[in-house]
Amino acid sequence: MKKSIKLLTLSTVVILATSVSLCAVDLTKAYDMPDASKMIEKDLLKEPTKFTLPKSCKLDDLESIARGKFFFHNLNGKKAKGKAPKGVKKFVEKNGKKKPKQFGNCVACHNIEGAKGGGNIGPDLSNYKKLFLDTKARDAQFIYQKIADARIDNPNTHMTINLTTKLFSESEICDLTAYVMSEKK
Ligand code: HEC
Repeated sequence: MKKSIKLLTLSTVVILATSVSLCAVDLTKAYDMPDASKMIEKDLLKEPTKFTLPKSCKLDDLESIARGKFFFHNLNGKKAKGKAPKGVKKFVEKNGKKKPKQFGNCVACHNIEGAKGGGNIGPDLSNYKKLFLDTKARDAQFIYQKIADARIDNPNTHMTINLTTKLFSESEICDLTAYVMSEKK
């Protein structure tokens, strides 16, 4: 008696498992499957991350400041006007295809010296050196972290996350930091 119950349970499990797997096969054929790699990419950027200003950052370097300025005022390599500064490529190879490099488009949210139609979602970064650095209200580490991952200082920030997402490399965040800190006309 006990043996037959066991057998019955076993066969039910087998039948159920088979029908479930058959359904699964049918579903993949019937529907467009979402792009799993995109979903994983989205899930991977969740954690706010602390970063330290790298020693290799050259905050007074004019070429670094020029790169930061270019990133700040442009959306991407296709839309960017004028020659890219030394060390910046307008187009990058991705999966064997040439694609416009994404820049910061920081002007979409921030006003700053020379901004064309600077946005006001973020604070005005004009006269930053005099207002925030000379007064020691901010330092390079603060700015680097803000640009790299603003969620560390402000969990509810509306600012884009740039290093955790790998939108920019460490040295490019250095360039942006150098530009924000620089004295501008
Ligand atoms: C979508 C809008 C948005 C974009 C794009 C954006 N920011 Fe911000 N940013 C903000 C907001 C909002 C704040 C204030 C809240 C905070 O500090 O997190 C801020 C704060 C900052 C601060 C701190 C100012 C201070 O001293 O308190 C800096 C520096 C800064 N952003 C630089 C940048 C740079 C550089 C870029 C481009 C790579 C950029 N932002 C792109 C919205 C934006």
